[in-house]
Amino acid sequence: SIPVLAIDGPTASGKGTVAARVAEVLGWNLLDSGSIYRMLALSAIKRNVAFDDEAQLVKLADALDASFDHGRIVLDGEDVSIVVRREETGNAASKLAALPAVRLALLARQRAYRQSPGLVADGRDMASVVFPDAFLKIFMTASAEARAERRYKQLIDKGLSANIDSLVLELRERDLRDSSRPVAPLKQGPDSVLLDTTAMGIEEAVQFVLDHAHA
Ligand code: CDP
Repeated sequence: SIPVLAIDGPTASGKGTVAARVAEVLGWNLLDSGSIYRMLALSAIKRNVAFDDEAQLVKLADALDASFDHGRIVLDGEDVSIVVRREETGNAASKLAALPAVRLALLARQRAYRQSPGLVADGRDMASVVFPDAFLKIFMTASAEARAERRYKQLIDKGLSANIDSLVLELRERDLRDSSRPVAPLKQGPDSVLLDTTAMGIEEAVQFVLDHAHA
């Protein structure tokens, strides 16, 4: 079957950047599953659907007109690459991602990215739920401070506003919500390799993943 390399981890651990680089080096497809949850959050905001209205969110998920076009994130035909990265979008995504029926509604959509010659999948439950047969499972993390620092730079680079102290608080809150939800909680699985990037640059992390992929 088509090989999948799963990279899971908490918010701002650097997994998105590493996943994209690894996919580029291998010439494989990329699934940024977090952006799908983020696009669903944007769709809900646009249509005034509450983040806990499971039935309506499932309908939105089924009809979600979302795509990735050469690195651009497109929702309902509109480029949402910038607004999708806002912390408030991520926080909203984390709320609706806690609903089991919503996760189930997005499952087939995510699995459809498994195309030849291979897939690098980035998220929270790539190894545990979406691609349990992934040939390599990486759990990527870093200290809360290091992650807040990275997220701060990323937001400023995109021209979005950010405050380090509130980022640390929000990040802890999101970690707690993502790891305490009943379905697909964020945690390292028994068959995942731990990659702590607190004191590691992106290049080194990419190399670590590639070394394991080739082993
Ligand atoms: O980049 P960051 O880690 O902040 O967020 P993300 O990966 O874009 O994901 C946003 C939110 O979507 C997370 O906080 C999760 O609650 C949720 N998510 C999920 O539940 N399952 C996934 N496979 C990916 C994201």
